[in-house]
Amino acid sequence: MYKKEISKAVINRLPRYYRYLGDLLEKDVVRISSKELSEKMKVTASQIRQDLNNFGGFGQQGYGYNVEYLHSEIGKILGLDTKYNVIIIGAGNLGQALANYVDFERRGFFVKGIFDISPKLIGTQIRGNVVRNSEELEEYLKTNKVDIAAITVPKTKAPGLAADLAKWGIKGIWNFAPTDLNLPKDVTVENVHLAESLMKLSYKLSGKDEVNI
Ligand code: NAI
Repeated sequence: MYKKEISKAVINRLPRYYRYLGDLLEKDVVRISSKELSEKMKVTASQIRQDLNNFGGFGQQGYGYNVEYLHSEIGKILGLDTKYNVIIIGAGNLGQALANYVDFERRGFFVKGIFDISPKLIGTQIRGNVVRNSEELEEYLKTNKVDIAAITVPKTKAPGLAADLAKWGIKGIWNFAPTDLNLPKDVTVENVHLAESLMKLSYKLSGKDEVNI
């Protein structure tokens, strides 16, 4: 959509802009200046202007930004105007927590299937989704459109599972298993590692955090 190459750092900041603008929308705020947005978000106003200029800049001199427009444009950049079908593989503690979280739907991510290998879990229900046997996965993917597979299985199982998913046509993997996945280039992997975030917190608490990481 946007021909210009956008840096990873900017893309990483967009979800935060999106969240703040969503909060403003809920409070019926119609427009906001980069200065006000900067005070709220604790990012410099020039950073905000620079970031948003990447997309042609949605602001107007003397008016600021139209909150609804900016929210919707950032949503489009993030691909949130699309609906995504998600499956969760591994219905243990984390898989169940993800499946029970309703807010993903508000952002266009719909959990359509949950899979596990445990006979104790297969057949049980999580928010209206029956946990299916993982052995049915290949067949399920032939007949259902799935955009994203969340991997919440033990780390030893994740690489093999991810390779199978890639072979069966999955293009987006939300990987929670603490292991790197080596997959073909046309598969996009987003790793989520809470422990790494904790390690960063630990580093900051240790007082060595002179540069904000
Ligand atoms: P858990 O043991 O509660 O759940 C794992 C589930 O995967 C079990 O129900 C098991 O039957 C199932 N499973 C095993 N092999 C499978 C397969 N081939 N296909 C389908 N299901 C399979 O574990 P928990 O606590 O839910 O953690 C799951 C994964 O998430 C682990 O790899 C863990 O290290 C990771 N994790 C990651 C976090 C993060 O921040 N990224 C935070 C917490 C856990």
